Amino acid sequence: MTLEELEPKAREMIGRYEQPRAAALPLLWLVQDNLGHISSEAEFWIGKQLAMSVAHVRELVSFYTMFRMKPAGRRELRVCTSLPCQLRGARDVLARIETHFKIRPGETTPDGELTLSEVECLCACELAPMAQLDEHFIGPLDGDTLGLLLRGSRIPDPQPFLSTGGPVISSRFRYPDGAWFETYLADGGYQSAGKALLHMTPDQIIEQVSAANLRGLGGAGFPAGRKWSFVPKSSPKPRYLVVNADEGEPGTFKDRYILERDPHALLEGMLIAARAIGSHKAYVYIRGEYIRPARRFARAVEEAYANGWLGKNIQGSSFDLDVVIHRGAGAYICGEETALLTSLEGGKGFPRLKPPFPAISGLFQSPTIVNNVETLACLPFILRHGPERFAALGTLRQGGTRLFSVGGHVSRPGLYEAPAGVSLRELIYNHAQGIRNGQRLKAVIPGGISAKVLTAEEIDVAMDFDSLTAAGTMAGSAGVIVMDESTCMLEALLAASRFFAHESCGQCSPCREGTGWIHRIVRRIWAGKGKPQDLDHLLAIAGDMEGKTICVFADAAAWPVQSYITKFRSEFEEHVHTGRCPASREAVACRP
Ligand SMILES: Cc1cc2nc3c(=O)[nH]c(=O)nc-3n(C[C@H](O)[C@H](O)[C@H](O)COP(=O)(O)O)c2cc1C
Ligand code: SF4
Repeated sequence: MTLEELEPKAREMIGRYEQPRAAALPLLWLVQDNLGHISSEAEFWIGKQLAMSVAHVRELVSFYTMFRMKPAGRRELRVCTSLPCQLRGARDVLARIETHFKIRPGETTPDGELTLSEVECLCACELAPMAQLDEHFIGPLDGDTLGLLLRGSRIPDPQPFLSTGGPVISSRFRYPDGAWFETYLADGGYQSAGKALLHMTPDQIIEQVSAANLRGLGGAGFPAGRKWSFVPKSSPKPRYLVVNADEGEPGTFKDRYILERDPHALLEGMLIAARAIGSHKAYVYIRGEYIRPARRFARAVEEAYANGWLGKNIQGSSFDLDVVIHRGAGAYICGEETALLTSLEGGKGFPRLKPPFPAISGLFQSPTIVNNVETLACLPFILRHGPERFAALGTLRQGGTRLFSVGGHVSRPGLYEAPAGVSLRELIYNHAQGIRNGQRLKAVIPGGISAKVLTAEEIDVAMDFDSLTAAGTMAGSAGVIVMDESTCMLEALLAASRFFAHESCGQCSPCREGTGWIHRIVRRIWAGKGKPQDLDHLLAIAGDMEGKTICVFADAAAWPVQSYITKFRSEFEEHVHTGRCPASREAVACRP
């Protein structure tokens, strides 16, 4: 394949977007998928196709971690060492892989067969410790599975625990190969979209969604109906619906299952939301590592077009909707909605100052609603069964259920659909079957790695947005990371701080400098070289990062530092003063 041969496909891709520059990531993928890497010649070629400077193309290649400028091995093994995987032995797995193949992360075996990388969370924590081999997620990489991987044998598909009986979302997770169009239709699918398109006004849809108390489930918990009502009705500009499927918060793995197993629920939700805000074009931004989920979702989109549920005059309603799938390329910050929009427009994933909020000026400076996958997938239930029933499943101010991703030291890691107000204790001890190996609970992060940590004494708390805020932490993405008594909290903070230092977009100095500085100090303490002033110094740096930056990433990077040190101060002090880990008296030792 040559660059010239890619030109027809490139033209078709550019034609999907309002502005040619927006096709930058798709073109970079086109080149890398077909030619193995992005050469300088390819950068020049892409620049020419998009009327973009080569310098800008090079910036994109270096910003997004999945693009490479040199050829890789025939196979790629990406080992996750983020906190949920670290808790289940990822460091040892990586060490065994390095010893076996005699390469370090970033290297390729001399025969050109395998390239090894160490990566941040792949959002498959139910498989921890896990890795991605080409497009496949493999894990848990313990015992037999790791042996198969090292011998180059076929690794069976993982069978993690998944709720399949949830009232709102998870019932169709029972189809391992996905609930495709006929199955979805037979299950009552598209009835709600039909109702929304043929029998309801946009205001009626917004009223019902507001009455259902549906909160945004991407992390911020903003009421969905209220957000939609901000879209100006009289704007001459087109309105866009953008689906945030960039799932990247360590500890979270819910949206992947919706994309893979129930993609039509998302599509039906998109139809309802698009009708409510008057949008005729929707973009679905899927994280780059989600190759199989993206492929499955693309199949559902094709089915929906073929059956008249997308395209022009949908089901005779005179409502049109087109869907474009846009693949990310390895940058956590693109989950932040304005960074996602900048990325979608062909830029580096840089968050923007708000206001203006996307509902007023978002994609291509037009009114845009960004919603999370799970938020949208709740909509068919609300319109089909009524807002009262959805509201009654949850708490006073948050209706419905949530998909809780539960990982770390529990006996049964998995994805659990439960009422929004389920208690954290119930999630850990009833759903996930308690702490593994009969150990005692030490700490829990209730809403993805950005959330403040809770101690074992603080788990009698409801998991809805308001209750967790009142408890001094946050519900976030509902990624629950459980740590038992053997966990070294310094090592946990090291994993969190490495993540934030790696993922800062670098625009704001308190964030760019602060995250790196925190990581370096924590690493030094971990190496047994702590100084008496280090802990107060860390708290001061974290305090200086809060509320001073373009987006809340910097605040999120500060919260683990503040909460881990405050709640486990004596353990941190012992590390600093003795250079040793107090948790090492227990079963699993911290490395230094
Ligand atoms: C640093 C950062 C990362 C985020 N990552 C995600 C993400 O991976 N997925 C997501 O849906 N929302 C994420 N969000 C929240 C989005 O900015 C936005 O609030 C959400 O997509 C809105 O959809 P919702 O109202 O349906 O929740 C992130 C926010 C921040 C600040
Ligand atoms: S706070 Fe951090 S991630 Fe957010 S815009 Fe600033 S530098 Fe980027």
